[in-house]
Amino acid sequence: MKTRITELLNIKYPILQGAMAWVSEARLAAAVSNAGGAGIIAAGGRDVEWVKEQIDLARTLTDKPFGVNVTLMDKNKDEKIDLICNEKVSFITLGAGNPLPYFEKIKQAGIKVIPVVPNIRLAKRVEDKGADALIIEGMEAGGHIGKISSLSLMTQVIPEVNIPVVAAGGFADGRGLTAALVMGASGIQMGTRFYASKECLAHINAKNAIVNADDMGTEITGYVNNHAIRSLKNKVTDKYIELERENPSDESLRGLRAGTSKKASIDGDVEWGLVQAGQSLSVIKSIQSCEEIINEIMLDAKETIRKIKTLI
Ligand SMILES: Cc1cc2nc3c(=O)[nH]c(=O)nc-3n(C[C@H](O)[C@H](O)[C@H](O)COP(=O)(O)O)c2cc1C
Repeated sequence: MKTRITELLNIKYPILQGAMAWVSEARLAAAVSNAGGAGIIAAGGRDVEWVKEQIDLARTLTDKPFGVNVTLMDKNKDEKIDLICNEKVSFITLGAGNPLPYFEKIKQAGIKVIPVVPNIRLAKRVEDKGADALIIEGMEAGGHIGKISSLSLMTQVIPEVNIPVVAAGGFADGRGLTAALVMGASGIQMGTRFYASKECLAHINAKNAIVNADDMGTEITGYVNNHAIRSLKNKVTDKYIELERENPSDESLRGLRAGTSKKASIDGDVEWGLVQAGQSLSVIKSIQSCEEIINEIMLDAKETIRKIKTLI
């Protein structure tokens, strides 16, 4: 399939594997890239040495393009961006902060820059400043979220910009990919579906929790203090919501969630660790390889496109 994002990133299918802190490292990114999508190493929360090791490892596992994501709230973000520029990784995605100050350096290094934006205003600004593409992420997504749904973002942001747009949040099958393309997006980014993949190094308990969850399985915590996260419902989310009702301090709320993502994805504690996951869970029925996931989605998308044609 050919879209503006497959052309830009030199990939076969318009499917990006969203960065997932503590979850998406070199093996997952390489598996997605080898399967024809674009894998992304999540640098969030990691030190610079780890990021360098993962870039080196990914290069031994694939000769296809892959990206690195930098979370702009990290203290060592500048060092990570310098490293990525030196390493000449294919593309970089930037989220959780203002990406504009980094554009010049990244572009000078010949790396494509793809920020994650939450609204029309920032979409226009990043386009003006030279972003190669952008990602809009709806509140159906797993992880840190805003308040606008993927459909509303696609409806409102896509007509306002000329660069390719990748839609994220709640995409997990070929019908979703088709819907995004019909809305004018150039591709989709999926996190949760790849979390539950064979090549993902996350703990099996976390992957099984995703497979076993259904459409009502997630909860949002943190809208109260502007740090909303969507994750599977469990003891942490119950406790957090209980605390939110008591007019708590920012510190006590932060304390409750601190380190919980790692606890779930690395240690496998899915009760007291947060399995960050998006809403489209019921279509994730088993732990498949990235190649199986991507092939299934592409087949499903082609079938859906054929069906749509018969409507006219
Ligand atoms: C476990 C997890 C961790 C995430 N960590 C990051 C991150 O470090 N940086 C980022 O930009 N997005 C992060 N995201 C968002 C994903 O990159 C992606 O946009 C999102 O998962 C898409 O929605 P979906 O989960 O419904 O597929 C994370 C998502 C999940 C599920």
